[in-house]
Amino acid sequence: MNILLLGSGGREHALAWKLAQSPRCDRLFIAPGNAGTALVGSNVALSITDFAAIGRLVKEQQIGLVVVGPEEPLVKGIRDHFEADASLRSVPMIGPSQLGAQLEGSKDFAKAFLTRHNIPTARYKTFTSDNLEDGYAFIDALKPPYVLKADGLAAGKGVVILDQAAAAKSELKEMILGKKFGAASAQVVIEEFLHGIELSVFVLTDGTSYRLLPEAKDYKRIGDRDTGPNTGGMGAVSPVPFATKEFLQKVEERIVIPTVRGLAADSIRYNGFLFIGLMNVGGDPYVIEYNVRMGDPETEAVIPRIQGDLLELLLATGEGRLAEVPLTIDPRTAVTLVLVSGGYPNDYKKGLPVSGLGNDGDSLVFHAGTSTNAAGEVVTNGGRVFAITSFGTDISSARALSYAAAEKIGYEGKYHRSDIGLDLI
Ligand code: AMP
Ligand code: GLY
Repeated sequence: MNILLLGSGGREHALAWKLAQSPRCDRLFIAPGNAGTALVGSNVALSITDFAAIGRLVKEQQIGLVVVGPEEPLVKGIRDHFEADASLRSVPMIGPSQLGAQLEGSKDFAKAFLTRHNIPTARYKTFTSDNLEDGYAFIDALKPPYVLKADGLAAGKGVVILDQAAAAKSELKEMILGKKFGAASAQVVIEEFLHGIELSVFVLTDGTSYRLLPEAKDYKRIGDRDTGPNTGGMGAVSPVPFATKEFLQKVEERIVIPTVRGLAADSIRYNGFLFIGLMNVGGDPYVIEYNVRMGDPETEAVIPRIQGDLLELLLATGEGRLAEVPLTIDPRTAVTLVLVSGGYPNDYKKGLPVSGLGNDGDSLVFHAGTSTNAAGEVVTNGGRVFAITSFGTDISSARALSYAAAEKIGYEGKYHRSDIGLDLI
């Protein structure tokens, strides 16, 4: 079977690497891909939101499964585009309909879904220019800190947390009237602050059945000990020691099951990954956010822990027969370390030559932001450049291997955090 995977990050290299191992995988196309995905499949220079061109490729190459990596094509309705075309309708796709993608594309939609289905989440209200004054009153009624969220996609920057009520009110005004995040902040969700530890839980669902994938912890800040600005993610660990069997059982009963039932009750077509960002508040899970895709870099720690054939699993998900396919998980610990460009998450250089690739030992070196130059050399092409995953019997042994592998790779300005996983030991 021929497969098309959309995206170009570390998540997509990890998915491509795993899909390519399937005995049923004939040709694997990645659009647009990176220098790493080119090692396990064929990159195609296509925009992930050019649905017409993607549809043509699917027909030309007789693609039997489309896997959508990032959220953007889903929020823009790639699945609906396929379903509206008689010659594409029957091709299984990993990703929800445009309505389902609103779980990530609109904070207000997600909060309304959570509330409607009695799923634990922070108390909230949504405001626009029509009821700005009510927003100020809601801030006065909450205890600090105040959590303000732009409703729409804002490249991961749309959540602002402030300690002072006055600052929260001026931020609310700036978001709504000042259009701080453009159309994304025309509507703003204000919610209660949840005190606890965060955890990412991943679910595969075909809309009826579901499978819990391994959980992970992500490290979002650029600096050690969670300092400095937010990034796409600087590292990941899976499994997470505080995610005990008892806690995960609460997650399944109180969150995963009502979510999957809620999708069906709301007639939301959903075959794909669901990423649930949780807060563990004194042993009880609360949903912070839904994403309609896998996390990055969590994928690079989670996917290698899946034993067996990912293609079988995804095909069953796309075809609505997930209940038939067993899932086995590697009990070892995976630690993923992200190498970034100097200056990231602010300005950084691209096109810098990379040395030291290809002697990975027991580590997996996933490319996150790379390309190949005219001379055929691998060069940097993004803020996050590589994600290195290693296994161990515990976090210490796995992280030692990832840090050793990181030393072998060189490019100007290379930076990584030095404390991934340390807080969990
Ligand atoms: P989100 O984009 O919704 O995941 O929010 C970004 C980050 O803000 C989360 O990863 C949390 O660290 C933090 N956050 C969001 N909502 C809350 C909340 N209600 N209480 C505490 N922290 C939050
Ligand atoms: N690592 C967080 C995300 O993928 O959104």
